[in-house]
Amino acid sequence: TILVLDFGSQYSHLIVRRLREIHVYAEMLPCTQKISTLKFKPIGIILSGGPYSVYEDDAPHVDPSIFDLNVPILGICYGMQEIAWLNNKSVSRGTKREYGPANINVLDSSCPLFKGTDNSKVWMSHHDKLTKLPDGFKTVANTDNTPFAGISHVSKPIYGIQFHPEVTHTVQGKRLLKNFAVNICKAPQNWTMENFIQTAVKRIRDTVGPTAEAIGAVSGGVDSSVASRLMKEAIGNRFHAIFVDNGLMRKNEAENVKHALDEGLGINLVVVDAGKEFLGNLKGVTDPEKKRKVIGHTFIHVFERVANQIKPKDGSQIKYLLQGTLYPDVIESVSFKGPSQTIKSHHNVGGLIDNMKLSLIEPLRELFKDEVRHLGELLDIPEDLVWRHPFPGPGLGIRVLGEVTPKQVEIAREADDVFITEIKKAGLYRKISQAFACLLPIRSVGVMGDQRMYEQVIALRAIETVDFMTADWFVFPADFLKRVASRIVNEVNGVSRVTYDITSKPPATVEWE
Ligand code: XMP
Repeated sequence: TILVLDFGSQYSHLIVRRLREIHVYAEMLPCTQKISTLKFKPIGIILSGGPYSVYEDDAPHVDPSIFDLNVPILGICYGMQEIAWLNNKSVSRGTKREYGPANINVLDSSCPLFKGTDNSKVWMSHHDKLTKLPDGFKTVANTDNTPFAGISHVSKPIYGIQFHPEVTHTVQGKRLLKNFAVNICKAPQNWTMENFIQTAVKRIRDTVGPTAEAIGAVSGGVDSSVASRLMKEAIGNRFHAIFVDNGLMRKNEAENVKHALDEGLGINLVVVDAGKEFLGNLKGVTDPEKKRKVIGHTFIHVFERVANQIKPKDGSQIKYLLQGTLYPDVIESVSFKGPSQTIKSHHNVGGLIDNMKLSLIEPLRELFKDEVRHLGELLDIPEDLVWRHPFPGPGLGIRVLGEVTPKQVEIAREADDVFITEIKKAGLYRKISQAFACLLPIRSVGVMGDQRMYEQVIALRAIETVDFMTADWFVFPADFLKRVASRIVNEVNGVSRVTYDITSKPPATVEWE
């Protein structure tokens, strides 16, 4: 394993991504990680960039004993400045910020880090700089503005670069990371999803043992489907997948999920039709956060009730709860800045674990989303499920603005179906990160034939994003929007007007509620 120590750069997780892409296994931990309590022995260490200045009093610093491990070390941006600071304090604020592309000159082509690379564009993002070489180091690359763009120790495998090899704007960045991981650290390139299946299945079997049983919720999304498929592979029918149909799913979705998981993949599936219960509890509720709470609590309640009815064959209690946690959630919660503030109430299964005395199983916690999708393809999960846009836990409950009634849900569901069907027909589904229709709680005048209409408004939303933290609205051809609007007004009873949301995030969020 290559250990990436995170100083809080927005690019840190990309270092892990790039290494995984060349099939090298890497893990990220906070920069404050003590080496003595590390659970594995890294074969190399990368120090990430970060928003701080090494010379400030409250700047984060690495455990100096990383240098006693005698493994190769690569410092990137802040990481390089950290190496210099610990060595001879030769870091200070530059006269100007350097942000954006720069041309690198490789001065020493025999340096193993730069092997096979040549002068090309790199991505810079820094204000501080090295004022002189750290003791025992030499310069191996520079740019017009940065005399120490690349440095290496004269006798030890310790390297520093001022630019960011992990972002795609650094043309030869991946080659550089490969040089470090494969040539310098001698990392095996055996991280593949094919290998991962074997390891994950074995790990689940070792954890659960020969007789214990497990439960997990499936939503129809790719994460819970893939996680359930692994459970099925590992422990067969001792895994019980519970699908709570909350009556707030998209059109035909509940049937499709049942069909795909139960009949298609042979997963032991318990389906609970709880639409009435959810809609009953939502009666009169209009505040978005309150809706989320009601839906979340109802979910836990229903799930627990059903789970308690499942009796393991050996007469004991269910012992394990499956969760489709992914690596970005894990990284976020281990950051040295403390866990992120908002954990969505829907995902909070803490109560379940305590009440039912369950232990968590998280077979996907090392994976990024695209790795999960690849895994899904290898595990024969239908394409529809593997590539499905994310769908929020509260479902149409937060896409019907205002009070959620069966009639309103039906309008939102039908309009959404027209929109998504047309998107798929136009071959745009995979180009868009997320698309949906939501029903606004206002009326608008229209005319159809000779009839005056006074009906509701549908807002369409389609976005492109990498991480859902920021997003841009998707640019559709005008005739596409025309077709969708016309179909919705003509085919969906109760709608007299269609609008397209052209706000980016921020300031708007993806969802309307
Ligand atoms: P926002 O609206 O916060 O959405 O920009 C970002 C992403 O999160 C999804 N989302 C949710 N997912 N429960 C969920 O499981 C929720 O309460 C929830 N709210 C938003 C949203 O669909 C988008 O993908």
